[in-house]
Amino acid sequence: IITRRISVPLLSNQSWSSMNYVAHKNVQFSVIGAASKIGSNLSLLLKQNQKVRHLKLYDEDTRINGVGIELTHVPGGPFITAYDSDKLGAAIQFSDIIVMVSRTPRKPGTTREQMLSSNTSVILQLCKALANNNPEAFLAISTNPINSIIPFASAMLHKYHCYNPYKMFGITHIDTARSRAFAGDALNVNPRDLEVPVIGGHSDKTIVPLFSNLTPSYYQVDACQADMLTRLVRKAGTEVLINKQGTESATLAMAWSIHEFVDGLINAICGSEVVLNCYTANPHYGTKFFSGPTNIGCYGIKQTCGNFKMSAYESYMLNNAISAINCDVAIGEEYVRYIE
Ligand code: LMR
Repeated sequence: IITRRISVPLLSNQSWSSMNYVAHKNVQFSVIGAASKIGSNLSLLLKQNQKVRHLKLYDEDTRINGVGIELTHVPGGPFITAYDSDKLGAAIQFSDIIVMVSRTPRKPGTTREQMLSSNTSVILQLCKALANNNPEAFLAISTNPINSIIPFASAMLHKYHCYNPYKMFGITHIDTARSRAFAGDALNVNPRDLEVPVIGGHSDKTIVPLFSNLTPSYYQVDACQADMLTRLVRKAGTEVLINKQGTESATLAMAWSIHEFVDGLINAICGSEVVLNCYTANPHYGTKFFSGPTNIGCYGIKQTCGNFKMSAYESYMLNNAISAINCDVAIGEEYVRYIE
């Protein structure tokens, strides 16, 4: 990536500012599952992202070609190519970042944990394609159940001899987005000014928002508000699903939060060190994988989250979350045995 960035040719009549523009617009991005609602909304946001040079869209559904054509009608932004059915390899080749949004939607009454068997086949195909075509890319996955899918994908990539824990991310950014939105409402302040670290995993029992670490620190939520907000964040996905009459789970806020997350990854690849909430290999809390604010640079993860000062309520939630995450990780890793 670095070689490509610094080898941008400087033409004699080109100014430094125009060269910077070229250098910043140098990230190639693949969206897997781009014909879905999350995928097409995310692709629209990426079409407006000035740092993306080439946006590759993949979906098994041949309507992806229509999505691709439509996006070319939006003036400016990255070059678009669309790929369907058996062209996954070509769709991820040479991309700096591959984001997987494909998933079978959750039905009312089911938990995220119950989605594992429906969603492993798309992940398996992607792992194979990655091993054969682009093992160096950053891989970000938002497919549920994230707590088990990331260990599953990591074990599959390990089997294909190309697992890089520094470049593998489960996207849990929706939980920080929701925590900020709900805390902003409760405090009657602009949520875009707030930061709330959310640790643990991404399921009803494992999402642990740390409202005691809310920043700026002059904003405070009391114990009662913290309990109410935590329940809201944990139930937010189900709330959307029920109110869409069980037809689909969250799509718009998901696309927005995935974009905010991957925009951070793009910044990291362009050379800025960033801190993003994500579920990654992280042994600091006694689990193999854990979500929380993570330092990321152009070669991948630099530091995963460790110590937080927590309220007694948060410590209690975290203890319960740790045993649930250990169980989810084991289920994901075990699932590899059922494959092939
Ligand atoms: C969410 O939190 O909205 C997603 O995990 C989707 C779901 O099924 O809840």
